[in-house]
Amino acid sequence: MIVTTPPMGWNTWNTFGKNINEQLILKSADKLIDTGLFACGYNYIVIDDCWSLKERDKNGRLVADPEKFPNGIKYVADYVHSKGLKFGIYSCCGTMTCGDYPGSYEHEFIDAATFAEWGVDFLKYDFCYRTQFVPGDILYKRMGLALANCGRDILFSACSWGNDETEKWIKTTGAHMFRSTHDINDSWGSIKKIFMEQERLHPMNAQGCFNDMDMLIVGMNGQKESYIPQLSATTFNEYKTHFSAWCLFGSPLMIGCDIRNMNEDAKNILTNKELIAIDQDRAYRQPYRLDSILHWDQASRERNVYARHLENGDIAIGIFNLGDTDYALGFNLDQLGLSRICGKTLKMKELWTGEESIIKNETYLTKVEAHDCRIYRASLIDA
Ligand code: GLA
Repeated sequence: MIVTTPPMGWNTWNTFGKNINEQLILKSADKLIDTGLFACGYNYIVIDDCWSLKERDKNGRLVADPEKFPNGIKYVADYVHSKGLKFGIYSCCGTMTCGDYPGSYEHEFIDAATFAEWGVDFLKYDFCYRTQFVPGDILYKRMGLALANCGRDILFSACSWGNDETEKWIKTTGAHMFRSTHDINDSWGSIKKIFMEQERLHPMNAQGCFNDMDMLIVGMNGQKESYIPQLSATTFNEYKTHFSAWCLFGSPLMIGCDIRNMNEDAKNILTNKELIAIDQDRAYRQPYRLDSILHWDQASRERNVYARHLENGDIAIGIFNLGDTDYALGFNLDQLGLSRICGKTLKMKELWTGEESIIKNETYLTKVEAHDCRIYRASLIDA
């Protein structure tokens, strides 16, 4: 098995778009290590769209743009590997990529062979310019087979944005992760939208074929050079809520900010080891919603409590206030499977503040500010 927990790493797209080059990748690989991100589990360095020439060579092979990558892709992959990291690249199941570079349609086997030769460990595979005549599942099966037969372990990261009910067929294709939504942008509205689309996907999420909620925007802070637009200023608490949800729901964690110039806030969020441990929990159980006891506005779905039972018997619990006003939210132990007469209660640690509390009287209630969250790791103790 190539991966048993959600993949983690860094990807060029969110911040750099088509402005990528060899130096950026080498420097970011160095930074992944120097900043301590690698030690937290982020190990893939992924080049997204816009790395190739617009034409294939006379043998039908993809060619790296020599202005951006003067020493070719294998050189970059070798450097990334020399640091103990893994290397990823991007292509598309259509005739062209989303950025109008050659796609892998009807070149799946030759491209998989090229990637294997270059030492690629991860392929992000997009959904633009697809032919109307071949269904999405067949297009992904083609590349899935090509990768599985290329002689190298290459993680297959499908990016069909949840279209064509991706979640229903993606596990037939060999994909190790699948994008379930359209592109994220650096704004609270985007975080909230993706969050609210997740619940119906939880049962479809699986170990070895992880639901990819898209790359992290933590630390982008509306950077001027950002490729994706910032529609409104995203605050520290919003980035915290974003990271907490991605971890509780078990999404791959692909950083999208400029890690060469990351601020302390971003670093503190991205390196929260207790949150990462929840994301990476080896049991990979399905998260579930607790209909909150003070949850009058069920319809809006803006106040949310979710839990996920962890491998060692602990329970991760997230209380999310996606609304625009502060709110008291909570849950009953019974909703987690702890009945009144079981003799147990929970000792909880909030994973941003380190604050500890013990639940008395079977109920927990707390005020959560607008756009903020509380995220706990809870252990069972005698009541
Ligand atoms: C699509 C994907 C993005 C990114 C771009 C590149 O929009 O969803 O994540 O890869 O293409 O062009």
